[in-house]
Amino acid sequence: MIQMKGIYKSFGSNDVLKDVNLTLNNGEVLALLGENGAGKSTLMNILGGVLPSDKGEIFLNDEKIVFNAPKDSLDSGIAFIHQELNLINDLTVYENLFLGNEIMKNSFQPDQEEMIIKSKELFEQFNVNINPKAMVSSLDASYKQIVEIMRALLMNAKYIIMDEPTTSLTSVEIENVFEMMGKLRDHGVGIIFISHKLDEVMTFCDRYMVLRNGVVVADDIVSNTTPRKIAYEMVGHDVRDETLNRDMNYGETVLKIENLTQEPHFRNINFEVKQGEILGITGLLGDGRSELFLTIFGDMPHYSGKIFVNNKEIQIKNINDAINHGIAYIPSNRKENGIIRDLNILENGTIVSLKKYAQNLTVINKDLQIKDFDTMKERLNLKMGKPGDLISTLSGGNQQKVVLTKWLLEAPRIFILDNPTQGVDVGSKEEIYDIIHDLAQHDVAIILLSNEAQEIIRTCDKAIVMYHGEIMGTLEHEEMTQQEIMHLATGGQDE
Ligand SMILES: Nc1ncnc2c1ncn2[C@@H]1O[C@H](COP(=O)(O)OP(=O)(O)OP(=O)(O)O)[C@@H](O)[C@H]1O
Ligand SMILES: [Mg+2]
Repeated sequence: MIQMKGIYKSFGSNDVLKDVNLTLNNGEVLALLGENGAGKSTLMNILGGVLPSDKGEIFLNDEKIVFNAPKDSLDSGIAFIHQELNLINDLTVYENLFLGNEIMKNSFQPDQEEMIIKSKELFEQFNVNINPKAMVSSLDASYKQIVEIMRALLMNAKYIIMDEPTTSLTSVEIENVFEMMGKLRDHGVGIIFISHKLDEVMTFCDRYMVLRNGVVVADDIVSNTTPRKIAYEMVGHDVRDETLNRDMNYGETVLKIENLTQEPHFRNINFEVKQGEILGITGLLGDGRSELFLTIFGDMPHYSGKIFVNNKEIQIKNINDAINHGIAYIPSNRKENGIIRDLNILENGTIVSLKKYAQNLTVINKDLQIKDFDTMKERLNLKMGKPGDLISTLSGGNQQKVVLTKWLLEAPRIFILDNPTQGVDVGSKEEIYDIIHDLAQHDVAIILLSNEAQEIIRTCDKAIVMYHGEIMGTLEHEEMTQQEIMHLATGGQDE
């Protein structure tokens, strides 16, 4: 059993954790919940030996322990799967799995063969389709997340901290993760599970605990609660959960795709989007969705087929071509594609619009830049210190909001959003849906790529479901159900 007692932590004047108590029993899954910036990752960083607390104690089976480094925590049997993926891109999958824990032939030589065999066995056991010898850099974010989970399993940990392990996974992989977790729980492993997806919490966790502004506001068994109640506890007020009604007066077709093909990723893709329309695109891992839109955004330019903007055929050879035609794109996986770690919050949030603030080549109209940024900060309920602070001082979900800000300020005509609410809390998700609807009302054509069927159903007018690089079907209005989406996403035919 792990107990954290009376934990306090501040960053400067920001009191992030205030007298927090947490208990994790063996063989239970504890959900740790709270708004973006509530202090979840900070609390786990303390348990994982990444950060020292300012005050408070940790007990392992009633014995007081002190963690000065991540290794101390690991040596006590606690494995930590970080929110921001922590793999080394330039190493292979198996090297990452065994990093710091190599199997050795003798005291000098690592036993590559053995590590590869062990990795294969592990993957087979959990039905994971990854080549241990592949470079991590070649893997998609979801596979990286799976490798991280596998690494924790390999450590034979007695306790596992999972900080949003499912953010970039689709439903099938999430099922796999839950199956793994179930097996571990049955073997007496205690798991702390952080997620903003409350349905996951309801089906998979035994107990839950909610942090609000660094204070524990709820600690109970899951069967005593409902998603609505948890949402209330997290944000301190009711959160809407029904579909928004809006008028669907579409304008002209702004983007039209004809027979777009880029082997082996996708083929014969046809669709169009009108001004004011919200088109959803979904599927499972390996459906070619991201590649399709990277192509349309000029990041994978060797396509065949045609792209029309405002009924004129255009060539998109690079990202600038796309931006010049009014296309904006928010990629998924913010850590690798969305933010620039060396820049501060303001710079990250306004980088796309810099042209607008440049009075001449050297001077930036800072007042205007800050004014614009402040409007968005207000609108997205961004929890942050000063605009000049580094982006890395923000919690995961707040970083995602900054990524949104930079494109919103640019007022695009065609807005492609790839999983824009990844890691965003229930309250802020609604703000983002409101913004998407508002943009559509102002004649922006929206394409929403999402792993979550529920998100597509709630926000989109129409949904395209992809499978292995092809469109399996298009669903409109009432046809969009979780079941129907799943049917098409797994390769079922449209009836
Ligand atoms: N290294 C740091 N320096 C300064 N402030 C920090 C640092 N790390 C976290 N914070 C601040 O601490 C607060 C809590 O952040 P934390 O990452 O624990 O939130 P979280 O609950 O994990 O949120 P999310 O759901 O968005 O991941 C935030 O206000 C954040 O800006
Ligand atoms: Mg976090």
